[in-house]
Amino acid sequence: MRPYTRTAIALHWLIALAIVANLAIGWWMSDAINQAATRDNAVAAFQWHKSIGLTVLLLSLLRLVWRLLNPVPPLPPHMPRWERLAATSTHVAFYLLMIGIPLSGWLYVSTQWRDEAPLTIPTLWFELFEVPHLFALNEASRAMRQSLANITLEAHELLVWAMLLLLLLHVAAALRHHFALKDGLLARMAPHLKTGPATHPQEHVAPRPNRFAAGITVGVAFAFVFVATRSTLPDLPNTGAPTIEQALDKLVTTTSTSPTWNTIQPDSQIRFSGAHVGRAFSGKFTQWRAHLQFDPNLNEPAYIVAVISTSSATDGVPMHDSTLPEREWFDVGSHPYAYFLSTRLEPRAEGEFELSGQLTIKGYTVEINGLMLKSNGNEMRIYGDTYLDRADIDLGMESDPAGDYVSRRIGIHVDITARRLP
Ligand code: HEM
Repeated sequence: MRPYTRTAIALHWLIALAIVANLAIGWWMSDAINQAATRDNAVAAFQWHKSIGLTVLLLSLLRLVWRLLNPVPPLPPHMPRWERLAATSTHVAFYLLMIGIPLSGWLYVSTQWRDEAPLTIPTLWFELFEVPHLFALNEASRAMRQSLANITLEAHELLVWAMLLLLLLHVAAALRHHFALKDGLLARMAPHLKTGPATHPQEHVAPRPNRFAAGITVGVAFAFVFVATRSTLPDLPNTGAPTIEQALDKLVTTTSTSPTWNTIQPDSQIRFSGAHVGRAFSGKFTQWRAHLQFDPNLNEPAYIVAVISTSSATDGVPMHDSTLPEREWFDVGSHPYAYFLSTRLEPRAEGEFELSGQLTIKGYTVEINGLMLKSNGNEMRIYGDTYLDRADIDLGMESDPAGDYVSRRIGIHVDITARRLP
């Protein structure tokens, strides 16, 4: 009988070995992670499991393309119709599972959720590079991540059982052919078992490669990875405030007749600071707008509003800049703007006032005290340093609630210069 090509044989046994290994690792680690004595090893096993599984995905796609370009030798003509049908459907089911199991696992880990809690664990392919999360699922809402994690893990486990069943059927059929029927079928995939030539003239008719289907498979695989790793969440809520000016307009609701002041942007800044793994960082918001109404004689209360674009936070460190917009940090998809609203202005000295207000970030409001406002009647300066505990505004509280990496105390530094409008 005509054997499979060497590439097909190599891929078959490599994938089979990886699947069996991953079944064993998967069942072991799911249990071991819940026991203190084996937890550390289980954490390492999770990375091995994910790396082997993603390799199975890649090899299975390669195998599929190879099969389309180099069709398998035909089944022996003596095989009854039902057996041919069973063999073909088993092979199709194998491909579906070889792709479906790793994909469901990849989707599951992309949710960055396990049981009742979120987690931040990257997938490192054999510690060589980080595998991206699919469809930015890690940035979805907590409720969505939790339900997606449940669904994808259920699917993973169900498909795994189907795989086990199929493997048993497949092995039983191969052994039957080898030991009971002795028709040399197993030797097509394991040539060293070959006992003697039992060829049939029909078998030498080479099937035609299906280049079109192979091309489609490669295209679909690339398109999936491209779209899935670049797409942002489909469920990002509509912000309702497309531009920063519109957001400011929405907030300004005063009937105050106090003089209006115009911010001089190049001279003004709103900065933040803190420490990351013991190293100080200092950054700024590059986009913000302020509405300032203030009467130096305080005939009317001051009315000071600022809108800050959360996506404009930068400290120049690429890793920080790419993390800050994430859901766990500024969550810019749901909360594109932070707001400051003045609540009190108390005179302290000639032309000097202490400004208090409320800062709202991600829907959490904190009191801001300790800013100063100085004015000579034509120019004013609002400046000062204040601090907040990032726990109060739910910033990074999933991955680092204790401040082990990023300090809990975050500084806010304001220096705004404005000129009175004529
Ligand atoms: C050949 C491919 C794969 C096989 C045969 C496989 C098999 C398994 C098995 C048997 C389990 C245990 C299920 C249970 O407890 O009932 C499991 C769990 C798991 N698999 Fe896979 N898997 C594969 C690919 C992947 C991939 C590619 C990933 C992620 C990139 C992945 C991620 C996981 C995770 C995280 C768990 C643990 C679930 C938990 O306890 O939180 N798997 N897998």
